[in-house]
Amino acid sequence: MNIPRPENVVLVGFMGSGKSSVGRLVARTLRGRFVDTDRLVIDRAGCPIAEIFATRGEAHFRQEETRALRSLLGSSRLVIATGGGIVTAPENLPVLKKLGFVVWLTASEEVIWERVSRNTRRPLLQTENPRETVRELIAKRNPLYEEAADMEVDTTTLTHAQVAERIYQRLMERRR
Ligand code: S3P
Repeated sequence: MNIPRPENVVLVGFMGSGKSSVGRLVARTLRGRFVDTDRLVIDRAGCPIAEIFATRGEAHFRQEETRALRSLLGSSRLVIATGGGIVTAPENLPVLKKLGFVVWLTASEEVIWERVSRNTRRPLLQTENPRETVRELIAKRNPLYEEAADMEVDTTTLTHAQVAERIYQRLMERRR
């Protein structure tokens, strides 16, 4: 089974929403190639994201993220996981839509917190009160994810495989 038409599948959503894990599963099912914009940025920079934030700052990271996203235009049959902040740059929204079918992975704030607090190195959560930072970022970003998305999947109580299956089903429906 291939991705319907030559479009890509693009996953957006907050940190900890499962974009990379789900993306890999969807790519396997669709026999597409999995790409992660964070990985593209890391490979070009030659260092981890935390180091890019620390040495060059968030604005530089965002520029590189936009560059990575744009570099995928013209590709097809990719499953693309994006960084959680991709929607914060307004110029990225038309690029996301142009790339293909955009899926927003959501989860309850509590579950997001439970997932992200397992990794204490996330640069945006190096604040005095990371729990509050998560709350604020989610509130700010949710309308942006919603605007970008063609489909929403609430992952709160689902396994990665179940999320991937829902996406696959929707793609099949669109094919008919
Ligand atoms: C970020 C999310 C991260 C990464 C960077 C910034 C964000 O990606 O791009 O740390 O602004 O939410 P994940 O969503 O894959 O964790």
